[in-house]
Amino acid sequence: MDRNIGLEAVRLTEAAAIASARLMGRGDEKAADQAAVDAMRKQFNELAIRGTIVIGEGERDEAPMLYIGEKVGSGEADDPAVDIALDPLEGTTLCATGGPNALSVLAMADKGNLLNAPDTYMEKIAVGPGSRGVIDLRKSPTQNLRAIADKKGVYIEDLTVIILNRPRHEKLIAEVRAAGARIKLIADGDVSAAISTCFPESGVDVLMGTGGAPEGVIAAAALRCCGGDMQGRLAFRNEQEIERAKKMGISDTQKIFALEEMAKGNVIFSATGVTSGDFLKGVRFFKGGAATWSVVMRSKSQTIRYVEAQHSFEHKPGFAG
Ligand code: FBP
Repeated sequence: MDRNIGLEAVRLTEAAAIASARLMGRGDEKAADQAAVDAMRKQFNELAIRGTIVIGEGERDEAPMLYIGEKVGSGEADDPAVDIALDPLEGTTLCATGGPNALSVLAMADKGNLLNAPDTYMEKIAVGPGSRGVIDLRKSPTQNLRAIADKKGVYIEDLTVIILNRPRHEKLIAEVRAAGARIKLIADGDVSAAISTCFPESGVDVLMGTGGAPEGVIAAAALRCCGGDMQGRLAFRNEQEIERAKKMGISDTQKIFALEEMAKGNVIFSATGVTSGDFLKGVRFFKGGAATWSVVMRSKSQTIRYVEAQHSFEHKPGFAG
């Protein structure tokens, strides 16, 4: 997969971010999500890849566009065959309420290198490069915090754990508090939360808790690119979800997936801020255009490239909305 694809990919997340950011704060999650999907789908026609969506908007019968299995890109026979994990609007409620950290995200890898995760939940633990190799979902949150603190050479009390604020995390939150770590509770957006562990200025050391499994794979792709670490274990809500996972080729439904088992090989990741957050600013509109802030990363080189772009709607009528 050519390195320049990353810079092409950013156009897709930029387009989706601009389209959904127009609807920020309108209280309409569906409309914001649809705008992001339409904009990203359109941009795929300009991308010279032979792409297959493996993590997308849902099954073919529930999503008219960017569904799992959909072929995208304008690539010819000699263009790269890639698998794609995407979320045109990660944090639909954040966008609908003007909350922080809504993102448009896209990850690409060589064919077969992204885990085809079913649309269920996933228990996750994610850390930045400074804590690589010490996390273990088999162990308790307290044991993991001890290991992370030791690796970083700090006290547990110095660590900040980011956790989705959900009733299902009551026990986890109580244990983390008892261990003495600080907590940042977030309303939504655990992809951004996982990535923030890799950016020291976010002040976040570790993500813990259960969120969407597709979001887990997207986060894993990002963490591969910025040298972080992550583990995930599928958390099923019912028998149907277990059956679905088995059909998708996951025979051991209790398996703990290591980072490289969720996103292996050469991975490219792009994210554009929809609303401002821990590591990206949100879309700003001005007369005749908009500004976007994105990050493009590649696992092979671990280059983290920030792209600040000014878009002129006169010259890019597709972005004008
Ligand atoms: P959406 O963009 O699909 O609304 O997802 C937002 C999100 O917060 C994810 O970041 C997270 O993985 C998931 O929802 C958690 O699910 P739930 O809201 O059911 O706890």
